[in-house]
Amino acid sequence: MSIKSRGNLLRGVLFGLVLISQTATTEGRIFQDEEHNRPGEDLFKKVWKPNQTDKSNSADGLGPMFNGISCVACHNQGGIGGSGDNIANVQILTVLPRQDSRRNFRLDQIALEMLFKQAVKLHPDFEFQNSVILHRSSVQNEAYGRWLKDIFEFKSVTKATGFESNRKLVEERGRLLFETPIHRVKKGSAKDRYTIQISRRNTPSLFGVGIIDMISDQDILALESAQKKTDGPVKGVASISADGEIGKFGWRGEQSSVAKFTAQACAIELGLSNVDHPQARLPFSKSRYSIQKSHDISKSQIKELVEFVNSLDPKPIRRSKTHSELQLLQKGQEQFHTIGCANCHVQTVGIAKNVFSDFLLHDMGPELADASHSIRKKTHSPAHSPVYGRSKAEFEIQNPQRWQTPPLWGAALSAPYMHDGRADSFHDAILVHGGEAASSVDKYQRLTPFDRKLVLEFLQSLGDDSTGGNEELPPETHGWGTPPPRSRQGRLVRKQP
Ligand code: HEC
Ligand code: HEC
Repeated sequence: MSIKSRGNLLRGVLFGLVLISQTATTEGRIFQDEEHNRPGEDLFKKVWKPNQTDKSNSADGLGPMFNGISCVACHNQGGIGGSGDNIANVQILTVLPRQDSRRNFRLDQIALEMLFKQAVKLHPDFEFQNSVILHRSSVQNEAYGRWLKDIFEFKSVTKATGFESNRKLVEERGRLLFETPIHRVKKGSAKDRYTIQISRRNTPSLFGVGIIDMISDQDILALESAQKKTDGPVKGVASISADGEIGKFGWRGEQSSVAKFTAQACAIELGLSNVDHPQARLPFSKSRYSIQKSHDISKSQIKELVEFVNSLDPKPIRRSKTHSELQLLQKGQEQFHTIGCANCHVQTVGIAKNVFSDFLLHDMGPELADASHSIRKKTHSPAHSPVYGRSKAEFEIQNPQRWQTPPLWGAALSAPYMHDGRADSFHDAILVHGGEAASSVDKYQRLTPFDRKLVLEFLQSLGDDSTGGNEELPPETHGWGTPPPRSRQGRLVRKQP
């Protein structure tokens, strides 16, 4: 990372604070549409303010920590509820143990205990896991700004991918991977050095999540066992969420239902405490959570929000205008099958027709690795063992290279791509696939330019944009200093090579 982009990174976070606190005072609802009376839609578009109170709520409103001022601030491409551009990416702060001489992270018991002991001094939420959300904004701007500066002393910054150092790659892939958006800072004295990194998550589209919610666990487990039986490299595993159910939402499938994700999004992205989730707290606070007497958003409001999100239809496949166009798209889809894309991007899963996902986690190789949330500390009785570093602690380590296959329905409207939004086009997205998908990428690269184009044209047909949704959002609805850029071409749908 250059000095300039390093500076921009910090400034990006800090600028967000100032601008959002100014715009956050803008009250009211947006996109007034008299025709429907959908309270959930109003809540999705509502611009929240700090200390906002209304009939049902008397708590502290937006914040104290937040990433956006409304749901639609991030979820808007291709219409309300769509995906988000990179400006809205969520940032994650992760601590990692010191590296050994082979440049691998030391993951032994002592190194991990030392790590957690140090990390909890940075942020209280590092108590049981190695990652926290690095919020864009806080109602306590100045104190948060000081905390941020403290964390990023910018002593030494290296670019890295996951647990492995960069490998030499073919030129084009190398170009993309060089732009890997993980930033690392070394902290601590020589004796107890550790690393902190920032990585990011791109906002996925919510079109069709209500249907995904209804896919049965059996349908997903059947795909898992079918992949186990094949000889090929593709061996997905179902994600098991914290509550023991099959996870279908989030880039790593951490959540099992739209309802749970929504309650969490209210609390984490907007700082709206609710009955199912405590709001994110100030990193320099001493209390376990921001304790409030009442909730910022009521149970019935969450229910309305969930109903609205569940009602968002998947974007349809674009209809071909001519017979020859139809034939070309069919050929493109055949290639998509032949080169193995459909092994993971399964066209139909149970009731989800044309969803193009298997909802399984796959090892996508070291270049897509992100060690965030990869180390968890399990104590046998957390209530009775507040002493850090006790030898009773056990650590659970997750493979940082695993990601859930994202559905491709509507993908033409949801650039940029991949969990961190590093790919601007379908071509770039395919080239950064590795791990279990490596042989599929090789086959793609060996296709004739014409056949490759057919695959891209097929992907471009997933998501009809003739129904609108490309309009710019009024600035007061998103609060970003600059309006979310539509694309390098100035259009929502990015041009493919
Ligand atoms: C700051 C940007 C931002 C805001 C504001 C935001 N989201 Fe999200 N949303 C994201 C990101 C990023 C993810 C992916 C998170 C992950 O996988 O770790 C996501 C994922 C989701 C998902 C899961 C989708 C899937 O298929 O995996 C749901 C549901 C969701 N958000 C609903 C909401 C709701 C409801 C609100 C308003 C209360 C909201 N979001 C506000 C950025 C945002
Ligand atoms: C081994 C399973 C697997 C195979 C094979 C595979 N993919 Fe993927 N695909 C994934 C996963 C997992 C991701 C998300 C990875 C990430 O975000 O880091 C992804 C992401 C994508 C995305 C970006 C979607 C988005 O919303 O960001 C596109 C487009 C895509 N794949 C197309 C293809 C095509 C075309 C092929 C065939 C050349 C293919 N994939 C082969 C698993 C696979």
